[in-house]
Amino acid sequence: MSTISKSISPQLHHLITKMPKAELHIHIEGSLEPELIFELAQRNQIKLPFDSVASLRDAYAFKDLQSFLDIYYAGASVLLHEQDFYDMTYAYLQKAAADGVVYAEIFFDPQTHTERGVSMQTVIQGLVRACQEAADKLGIESKLIMCFLRHLSQESAMQTLQAAEPFLEHLIGVGLDSSELGHPPEKFVEVFKAARALGLKAVAHAGEEGPPAYIWSALDQLNVLRIDHGVQSIHDEDLIARLAKERIALTVCPLSNLKLCVYDDLAQHPIKRLLDMGVCVTINSDDPAYFGGYINANFLHTFAALDLDAKDAIAFAKCSFEASFMSDLQKKAWCAKLEDFAHALGV
Ligand code: HPA
Ligand code: ZN
Repeated sequence: MSTISKSISPQLHHLITKMPKAELHIHIEGSLEPELIFELAQRNQIKLPFDSVASLRDAYAFKDLQSFLDIYYAGASVLLHEQDFYDMTYAYLQKAAADGVVYAEIFFDPQTHTERGVSMQTVIQGLVRACQEAADKLGIESKLIMCFLRHLSQESAMQTLQAAEPFLEHLIGVGLDSSELGHPPEKFVEVFKAARALGLKAVAHAGEEGPPAYIWSALDQLNVLRIDHGVQSIHDEDLIARLAKERIALTVCPLSNLKLCVYDDLAQHPIKRLLDMGVCVTINSDDPAYFGGYINANFLHTFAALDLDAKDAIAFAKCSFEASFMSDLQKKAWCAKLEDFAHALGV
């Protein structure tokens, strides 16, 4: 996965890797590299069902979303203390900053931790401390989106929202992730209503493996402002027209789609077709430690497979700012900086 089979010009490579961009779809637990999983397991005296980093990595051969989630939740079981959440988050922010990410909206899955007896406070404090330190030391801004696990009940999601209320100032929004098929968005209408009433923005995974109908219901019943993945919208012309008209963004994760066998080959990926049909689409890493790369790797593999150009790169980066939850003033400022950067390269 680390080699790019088709070639990308040095100029395009430079533009992609150095341009300022936002990352809007990253599960922080999915940034836990095998080396850190083993280090934390040792620190916390947790026995893993793998005896080496190499054997854990060997298990990263997924056939679908569920086969990945089983390993992802096992990996997250090493996170116990505030320092563990800090270490994981700071490591991601260092990598993101090195990839030109100037702003990140980070998903986290509290139920994965509270179900093991870890408190909401431990999770959020560790994440927040890393975000603050990364802003000071690396100049990367970040915000947190708390996700509900859709394979669990709405009641459990509601309890999670209540547990997070003392920490609302640290959250920008709520999301919905985990096993999609059989768990449609409408299962979570009440908790999303409660979250929006608290002033939180709403996003949801939909149309990763699930049908376009799940995207419609995320929009109409959960009132989400963005769709995470959303690639199955390609099969529904009316839906594409709505996404384009209302500028509802899709946070697309090409290497994730490849690793989870949504597509056999990135050359089949619909991201460019969606962009050309006027949809605001962004490129993101999803679970970079598991899917073969961080945001720049996602850009580079996609650009090589689909033969995309500098105009496309700038369009994706602009969409990333437009679709973010930063202020309009900040969006304008970052888009202007992006344009200056491109002009300086002669693009
Ligand atoms: N899809 C759904 N849930 C997830 C994912 C994903 O790609 N990554 C982590 N949780
Ligand atoms: Zn995701």
